[in-house]
Amino acid sequence: MPQVEQDKDEINQFIDMAQEECQKGNKSEAVKILFEVVQRWPNCQFAHNDLGCILFNMGKRQQGFDCMRKALQLNPNDQRSLQNLAAMICESKRGEFDIDKVSPNRAHVYDQSYGFEGWGMQTSHAHPWAQDLDSTFLLQAHTEAIANFDSPRIPSLPGISIEEKWYNLLWRHWTITYAVRHAVEFTQEPDIKLVECGVCDGMSAFFTLKELKGQYYLEHINSFCLHLYDSWGSMREQGLLEEEKGIAGQFRENDIERTKKNLSDFDDNTVYHQGFIPESLNSSPTAPESISYLHIDLNSVEPTIAALEFFFPRLLRGGIVLFDDFGWKEYCPTREAVIKFFIDKPGIFMPSPTGQAIYYR
Ligand SMILES: C[S@@+](CC[C@H](N)C(=O)[O-])C[C@H]1O[C@@H](n2cnc3c(N)ncnc32)[C@H](O)[C@@H]1O
Repeated sequence: MPQVEQDKDEINQFIDMAQEECQKGNKSEAVKILFEVVQRWPNCQFAHNDLGCILFNMGKRQQGFDCMRKALQLNPNDQRSLQNLAAMICESKRGEFDIDKVSPNRAHVYDQSYGFEGWGMQTSHAHPWAQDLDSTFLLQAHTEAIANFDSPRIPSLPGISIEEKWYNLLWRHWTITYAVRHAVEFTQEPDIKLVECGVCDGMSAFFTLKELKGQYYLEHINSFCLHLYDSWGSMREQGLLEEEKGIAGQFRENDIERTKKNLSDFDDNTVYHQGFIPESLNSSPTAPESISYLHIDLNSVEPTIAALEFFFPRLLRGGIVLFDDFGWKEYCPTREAVIKFFIDKPGIFMPSPTGQAIYYR
């Protein structure tokens, strides 16, 4: 039996004592008690969690974050610690406007409320995810991803923290979250079906599914199902334009088992369509007949247009098509082909400064 389990009663006594001290306003005393607990029982997740909250509330934010992350290392799925970490991120971004913080510094530091640098952008605006509680599911997904998500695409560059790597992606993930919410609200389909073409390790799918789960908790939908299309192999040369040939062989580290593990909380909400697009579109399992949301991230013209031609007629009114790499220089031929595809379609096509683009039907 693990030591923490064996000494449960003794630990609980300390935790109760710390809570009492906190209630009396003696936060420093509570911290002392909890420090002792984590020294004696370094694997006590609750103690790290409580210590994180108290230190953060005392203004020792970095120490608070460190403790909360330690708690999540010990139990990455602990909802209480995930929520606490999400609340801490929200809270630390709600600080007062401080011109020094706005100057184009690195924006990964958690207590900056304004300014962002990353993902090909530099802004000086307030972060939307710090503004209100509507970002709860995004922030939960973000903190959970830092703790758990296995992605060979998050490079292990020395000197850059894992938090910074994920932080750079926040604007992109915010867009995914809102695209999902738009599709839920405007297609009004209680049993919502969605498609992602180009899944890789499942990162964008993870954020999509997390938001959907949130929408399900809020009872905005009765069920959700995300159909995932990818070869889960390396990019083949077949079908690539002459100017795209350089990307053949990319994604050789793809592994469907890794994706399934990353999305394992959603086994009942996902359908895997492994194979190359366009062939896989008409293969088994069967594609959904009508969809509220289509995310395309395929990096080349042929499968992008094939996916559009196949799914666009199935997109419900109020639905969304989200493109991941629309504005990136490397994918200029895809951008041109997508613009051509939408030229005679109803609805609104909106490129975003994140490099994504959203089509609103
Ligand atoms: C950029 S990654 C997707 C990343 C993912 N959307 C995310 O943001 O987490 C592109 C993926 O598209 C897949 N892909 C590219 N061309 C494809 C094709 N013709 N058929 C199926 N999958 C393809 C690649 O295998 C790769 O996994």
